[in-house]
Amino acid sequence: MTAQSQELRALPPDLDPNRLPQHVAAIMDGNGRWAQQQGWPRILGHQRGVDALKELLRCCKDWGIPALTAYAFSTENWGRPLEEVEFLLTLFERVLRRELQEMQAEDVKIRFVGNLTALPASLQGEIKRAMLATAQNQGIALTVATNYGGRQEILQACREIALAVAAGELRPEEIDEALFEQHLYTAGLSHPDLLIRTSGELRISNFLLWQLAYAEIYVTPTLWPDFNRVQFHKALFAYQQRERRFW
Ligand code: FPP
Repeated sequence: MTAQSQELRALPPDLDPNRLPQHVAAIMDGNGRWAQQQGWPRILGHQRGVDALKELLRCCKDWGIPALTAYAFSTENWGRPLEEVEFLLTLFERVLRRELQEMQAEDVKIRFVGNLTALPASLQGEIKRAMLATAQNQGIALTVATNYGGRQEILQACREIALAVAAGELRPEEIDEALFEQHLYTAGLSHPDLLIRTSGELRISNFLLWQLAYAEIYVTPTLWPDFNRVQFHKALFAYQQRERRFW
């Protein structure tokens, strides 16, 4: 490793290692616009988006942030042109196949959250394979929200709980936040402390509605394929300038 790459991998000195977010969530917005700005088809932006996600994952690992959750495909994304939807779903499959070995080497534990049963069978197969293969890994936890919608997640948790009540397995007064969370797709995962949204949009867009209740939100005009270590450093610096209060 060169001195320069070692310097890049070290936590920047203006960041306090004791006050880093323990879970970062990202809305990876702006792939299409990024490609269009280069005069390229939108799908190339998604391809570059994968590189940006890989770089962010590596950076989290280098800087000691144990969990990263990325919004890869929302329930609303089915409304995009069929070609783009097909490209995205095939891209996820290819990425999983291509990156599995490296994820193992880097000790990444990958998990997908969302309504996965509506995805193509071949993608579901790759997802299962990757989740199973990395289930015991102890390094960074990468969660990929795919066919994910926060409202849908909350509704399906309500349905599961209602069924348990109707079956006499649960009393309504036993329903509390801890129990509710066990029925979310993200059961067992800590809540994000920091949400990053690229491309300037000031919305949560149905992402982790329950889990982001107390997260700090950082929005940057940078388009997702351009979101790199320097940008992440800025986001973490801004995060550490804020006073974390929980009310
Ligand atoms: C938003 O940009 C981005 C997406 C809908 C897809 C993001 C997916 C990835 C980067 C791949 C992740 C893959 C795996 C398997 C981990 P946009 O198209 O909404 O951009 P625009 O706002 O400029 O139109």
